[in-house]
Amino acid sequence: MNVSAAGLLLAVLLLAGGCDDMTQQKKENPYASSETAPATVPDSVVEFQDSDHPPPALTLTLLQRGQSEFHAFCSPCHAETGNGHGMVVQRGFPAPEPLTDPDLMTASPRHLYDVLTDGKGIMYGFAQRISPEDRWAIVAYMRALQLSQHATLASLTPEQQAMP
Ligand code: HEC
Repeated sequence: MNVSAAGLLLAVLLLAGGCDDMTQQKKENPYASSETAPATVPDSVVEFQDSDHPPPALTLTLLQRGQSEFHAFCSPCHAETGNGHGMVVQRGFPAPEPLTDPDLMTASPRHLYDVLTDGKGIMYGFAQRISPEDRWAIVAYMRALQLSQHATLASLTPEQQAMP
């Protein structure tokens, strides 16, 4: 056998060796053995838990808290007015619909709360960044933003209407 024939044979043998069908191989379940069982959380660690949190009472303090949280977390995309043209959007991020979109005007507070908790589409959720109480505060502030942009003259008191 000359050198090139030996080389060819070697190549064929190597190729044949590589043809072992990996889908047929016996797999080991890494979680099956007790040595590799999933870790347990030590007692001293508090696990994150998003418990259901009822909406707190509507107060001026709650609204003010919602305003500062909205400015910090939401206005980069939604803008301070909620029109959806925040700085991140001006830099190319897809624009969310304005908060005064009819669907959002009529959406329940719970829907708004769920969106900001879990996220929607490309918007990430805030469950792990904002406490439930503060999330409700933001919902209240979003409602105030919506109403502030849809107030009618009739919804003002006579004194307010008389203001110059
Ligand atoms: C990184 C940008 C970004 C940030 C920050 C952000 N959002 Fe959004 N938001 C979006 C985009 C984009 C959508 C549209 C998502 C879609 O429909 O795919 C959206 C959608 C929404 C909607 C509409 C949901 C619906 O039912 O159509 C609400 C309400 C909302 N965001 C609230 C918030 C609040 C409150 C915050 C702050 C806690 C926040 N968002 C922070 C980008 C953002």
